[in-house]
Amino acid sequence: MKGIILAGGLGSRLHPLTKITNKHLLPVYDRPMIYYPIEALVNAGIDDIMIVTGGKKSGDFLSLLGNGSDFGLKHLNYTYQEGEGGIAEALGLCEHWASDDDICVILGDNLIERNIKKAVTDFCEQERGAKIMLKEVHDPERFGVATLSGDSVVEIVEKPSEPVSNLAVIGIYMYDNRVFEIIKTLVPSDRGELEITDVNNWYIEDKSMTFEVLEGWWTDAGTFSSLHRSASLVAEGGANRRD
Ligand code: DAU
Repeated sequence: MKGIILAGGLGSRLHPLTKITNKHLLPVYDRPMIYYPIEALVNAGIDDIMIVTGGKKSGDFLSLLGNGSDFGLKHLNYTYQEGEGGIAEALGLCEHWASDDDICVILGDNLIERNIKKAVTDFCEQERGAKIMLKEVHDPERFGVATLSGDSVVEIVEKPSEPVSNLAVIGIYMYDNRVFEIIKTLVPSDRGELEITDVNNWYIEDKSMTFEVLEGWWTDAGTFSSLHRSASLVAEGGANRRD
């Protein structure tokens, strides 16, 4: 399984912090934001990693991370997204590199407390399809929101004004290699982006989507309040526990 970290986009919700740097290079307590998704993948046993960067300061990723020796890696792969065409567009840039492998995708502004190794192992044993991870939140309208029926996810709605559940789809997704053909069929949403939620709904209709509810805390760090909350969570208990 290969790992992909999406750290493109312009981070406009964090202006002026992101006027002169990429959002994922901003500090979250004692580390740059991008360290957290790398650690999450490495803890799960994934060491073949691509980072999608973007913006004017993308060269700073290389200065900061090099070949990933801070994480025990021998090599890191980088690619570049022009503009802000969406999470699915950024993922589509990795098609050639991913080749026929399954992939675990993590958004560059997502932080987790616990290890996702079990979910990754479960997905490796899944014959085909995709896996998402869900977490109960108090502000579901900020996220993709899942509707469950029994043991299945039946629909995901992106940022609903009236959420039907409080189960957010967190920014960690596992896909078989059909994902790149699916991305080619997408059309931009009202916010002008290729949406990862449309990819996930494709797998739901294909009846090949599984899910797990994440243990431990999860947060994004893409708004002032969630960036602040991330730093507090890391300071209080630490992120990316080994268990
Ligand atoms: O954090 C989880 C949520 O992330 C999910 O619940 C939503 O379904 C999903 O759409 C996404 O929502 P956001 O609107 O919060 O995503 P945002 O635009 O903040 O992008 C999250 C990360 O994805 C960002 O840190 C870098 C990457 N990204 C985003 C865009 C728009 C890219 O690499 N390229 C892009 O063009």
